[in-house]
Amino acid sequence: MSGAAQYSASAANTASTTVRSQHPAGAPVTPSAPMKLYGKRIMLRPLVPSDFVAWSEVRRRNGEWLLVWEPQRSEYIADPAKDPQAFDRRCVARDRERQAGTAYTLGLFIDDIFAGEVNLNNVVRGAMQTGTVGYWIDRKHAGNGYIAEGVAVLAHFAFEELKIHRIEVCIIPRNTNSKKVMEKLSFRLEGLSERFLEINGVWEDHLRYGFTIEEWHNRKSAMTQQWLAAKS
Ligand SMILES: CC(C)(COP(=O)(O)OP(=O)(O)OC[C@H]1O[C@@H](n2cnc3c(N)ncnc32)[C@H](O)[C@@H]1OP(=O)(O)O)[C@@H](O)C(=O)NCCC(=O)NCCS
Repeated sequence: MSGAAQYSASAANTASTTVRSQHPAGAPVTPSAPMKLYGKRIMLRPLVPSDFVAWSEVRRRNGEWLLVWEPQRSEYIADPAKDPQAFDRRCVARDRERQAGTAYTLGLFIDDIFAGEVNLNNVVRGAMQTGTVGYWIDRKHAGNGYIAEGVAVLAHFAFEELKIHRIEVCIIPRNTNSKKVMEKLSFRLEGLSERFLEINGVWEDHLRYGFTIEEWHNRKSAMTQQWLAAKS
């Protein structure tokens, strides 16, 4: 992996040592370069089946906290927070997306304890070269700027490794906590898309925040210094 001095990728092969599922697509994408991205205080990596107990505990404890900001769950699809096999399938599906280069969905860890997720979804290449960032954190860790740090780490990955041109974050106007994350990162507010995403069963308007590689290059040094880990 290339990248700036304040970025590091671990050589530890988390996925290969912990896979419970025997499905071949659950194997690591590139065994020689497993994904582990570091901020000053957080680490991002793909979730693996052995994360089920921790992921499930955090998701179940934060049900109410997350429900109102997420798409409605279908009653016909097994809940990965309750069913380990469903969580295995989720990991496999996410591995496949990463292999295809369409999404990079990552667990956020604080002191190696699972605490949330920061994702780059809907990666589109061609003339657009873009991706959508989504995130959430365990309420007991809220208010510490961990998500802003995670998004800065993901931005570094998106621009320096994937060579994407633009990332965006879409936020329901009443989600003041999430808008604070955008303020901390100084992402550019582009406007409002009406009835943009289905959230908790309702087509909700969303504010669109954009951040391009040109802005990244202008602010890379400051953002790296503020959020990213010193090279180990
Ligand atoms: C939005 C969210 C990801 C922000 O993550 P975070 O790491 O807590 O972000 P910050 O630490 O920057 O805090 C943002 C604001 O949340 C508020 N906040 C702080 N502690 C809090 C707590 N314990 N509980 C609730 N809100 C809190 C504060 O207003 C804070 O702003 P401030 O730091 O200027 O005071 C998090 O609130 C969350 O997971 N919410 C539920 C899911 C969600 O909304 N996802 C995003 C969809 S776009």
